[in-house]
Amino acid sequence: MNLNLTDKNALVCGSTQGIGKASAKQLAEQGANITLVARNEEKLQHVLRELSTNQGQSHDYIVADFQDPDRLQQNISTTGKSFHILVNNTGGPAGGPIFNASLDEFERAFTQHLKCNHILAQTVVPGMKNYGYGRIINIISTSVKQPLTGLGVSNTIRGAVANWSKTLANELGVFGITVNNVLPGATGTERLNEIINNKSTKTGKSIEEVSSIMMNEVPARRFAKPEEIANAVVFLASEAASYINGVNLPVDGGRTKSL
Ligand SMILES: NC(=O)c1ccc[n+]([C@@H]2O[C@H](COP(=O)([O-])OP(=O)(O)OC[C@H]3O[C@@H](n4cnc5c(N)ncnc54)[C@H](OP(=O)(O)O)[C@@H]3O)[C@@H](O)[C@H]2O)c1
Repeated sequence: MNLNLTDKNALVCGSTQGIGKASAKQLAEQGANITLVARNEEKLQHVLRELSTNQGQSHDYIVADFQDPDRLQQNISTTGKSFHILVNNTGGPAGGPIFNASLDEFERAFTQHLKCNHILAQTVVPGMKNYGYGRIINIISTSVKQPLTGLGVSNTIRGAVANWSKTLANELGVFGITVNNVLPGATGTERLNEIINNKSTKTGKSIEEVSSIMMNEVPARRFAKPEEIANAVVFLASEAASYINGVNLPVDGGRTKSL
């Protein structure tokens, strides 16, 4: 199976830590030239130094805040680069019951997830059409299939992104561009630490107890490593996944109870 990504340019968002960082590192291992995107420049520089250059790749980064889609578009356009691979990924919305959520929380999540994904797709797709090769991979959540308790705004925006993505897949398949979603289960990142800390504060249970309850919901009885999510990203980005389009791929150790 050919996973080689030599000469492919990949725009990898939310890549200073967690799933985005692991994806950037593994795409680079396969030969891709990476453009990292996130807010924290110091961390971007740090990750940049960690990316493989084993095939003479050249990597760079863009500082951008997904709360400002117009600026994001300007920043991507000014690179003058075309991209074969786009990994749409950013920080998840804060937790909490949906009934208590403010309109501002919904608007911020919509901007950060849907508007930015859309602007990024609009910016990179013309180049993908020219190449006759494009891979758009959206990191969403298993809540697309089964809403997660206590993640009201997140559950809502994930559904919107999944339907945006499926619609885009229908439109772009004819150009050799695929659009797919990776749905991570509980994955050992800062985001998961925050969720566990919040649950611990709310319930009075220790961090260890909360973690153990969460792990017991997973047939694999453990959390994912970010690299295990990144493996799916690399596969979907490769030539090997050329006939996979418009799917939701849970990478959750079997936690989701539906098909
Ligand atoms: N970890 C899990 O268990 C899990 C499970 C299901 C779904 N997910 C979802 O998968 C995605 C990635 O998860 P993760 O665990 O890797 O998250 P994470 O550790 O919180 O990392 C989020 C990344 O996004 C960047 N980011 C956050 N806010 C941003 C903004 N406003 N503008 C630009 N970049 C921003 C962060 O970098 P800067 O701070 O430098 O900007 C960071 O690189 C999230 O949407 C998360 O909700 C995670």
